[in-house]
Amino acid sequence: MASVAPARPGTEAVELSVVVRQLRWEAAGVVSVELCAADGRELPPWRPGAHIELVLPTGIARQYSLCGSPEERSCYRIGVLRERGSRGGSEYVHAFLRPGQPVRVRGPRDNFGFGPASAYLFIAGGIGITPILPMVREAADRGVPWQLAYGGRTAASMAFLDGLRQYPEQVWLYPEDQVGRIPLHEWLDQPRPGTVIYACGPEPLLSAVEAAAAHWEPGAVRMERFRAWPKPARPNTEIEVVCARSNRTVTVPADRSVLAALQDEGVPVTGSCREGVCGTCETRVLDGDPEHRDDILSEDDRRAGDRMFICVSRARGPRLVLDI
Ligand code: FES
Repeated sequence: MASVAPARPGTEAVELSVVVRQLRWEAAGVVSVELCAADGRELPPWRPGAHIELVLPTGIARQYSLCGSPEERSCYRIGVLRERGSRGGSEYVHAFLRPGQPVRVRGPRDNFGFGPASAYLFIAGGIGITPILPMVREAADRGVPWQLAYGGRTAASMAFLDGLRQYPEQVWLYPEDQVGRIPLHEWLDQPRPGTVIYACGPEPLLSAVEAAAAHWEPGAVRMERFRAWPKPARPNTEIEVVCARSNRTVTVPADRSVLAALQDEGVPVTGSCREGVCGTCETRVLDGDPEHRDDILSEDDRRAGDRMFICVSRARGPRLVLDI
């Protein structure tokens, strides 16, 4: 399996059978889950920031960031917060998932794009610490300067603190009930050329980071959202989608997504979150002007216009040609 590359944009993620090896209580409402290949072989490689999709026996599929070490090729490790109002994913993991149980995973997939920089500022809120952990380790291993501002509702709810205590000079903890929220203005008022900010956490935190770092250089802020972020969009119009590889043309009505309309017509396309956050439905654009509504692509990616997430994104013009 060593030759399997991490899923990159425009490629299909692999589906694997894995077995739960261990569940560990990490903080109030947070467990980590170790998943090993059912056949004992090495799992596909991944980069810090990547996530897998866990397909539970109930049929529910949910995305979870990998929080272990990319060097550990026999198991994946994820952290799962038991969410109030869960749609069944985290509730199942906490209540029913047990060692020895087989499950399926898809991926890994990397939407975060952890890349080289002269320094890093990591900002994590709550369970948003999970994709940040492997980034922290890699930055530390490479000797690149980094800092982490990590906030949570209470200290007891903040997972993986033990591993972070080895970096007392770089890690700032903000349990909200003791010291209040992460003081973003202190961290972000002064732009630092060459420093890249990686942020993950609840939407209010990410929106606040975007606003507070708006004067940083373009591309300095990278974030991963758990849920779609409401944003203004033009009213939907009917569009024509040409599927170049399958030589089909499908009319997408204003009240259907491109993904749904293609599936209605039997075109083999897949999606999972259907909110523009997981990356599963990524599709190469061969012609046309996509109107991006996802929460994955950077501004540079959007300008390139060569790929789109068809569960939410549409077209600025009447026609798109896709590599399907
Ligand atoms: S299905 Fe998740 S991004 Fe489209």
